[in-house]
Amino acid sequence: MNKLKNIDDFFTNQQNIIHKKKSCNKVRIMVHMGTCCIAAGASKVLETMKSELEILSLKSDITVEPSGCIGLCYAEPTVSILHPDGTYEVYGYVDSQQSRIILNRCRTQSPITGIKELKPKWKVINVLQGE
Ligand code: FES
Repeated sequence: MNKLKNIDDFFTNQQNIIHKKKSCNKVRIMVHMGTCCIAAGASKVLETMKSELEILSLKSDITVEPSGCIGLCYAEPTVSILHPDGTYEVYGYVDSQQSRIILNRCRTQSPITGIKELKPKWKVINVLQGE
């Protein structure tokens, strides 16, 4: 990303990001990797998800990426899912076995049950839908 020099740069950048996200139809899975997430086992969750993604040949439909602290440190390891339609889910206390379940549910687009869904007090702003 280029350094912002003025407000026009900011809006140009914003439009580029929106355009990029609109052209992406993949499910985006984020494994939160703050320091205490890692201490709680997030590395193993990320590693498992990435290897399952490879094994199941899902790279064209789903991305798995590390992300920062989400502010829900009490429920680590935490995993967020952003769907192409803008819906957003967060799961906590995720282990390797559950990370496989999450990936498979995203693949089949079926509801995720049996894993603690977190309801953060903050709201995700969906720039694509103007909410
Ligand atoms: S450091 Fe893990 S959610 Fe905050």
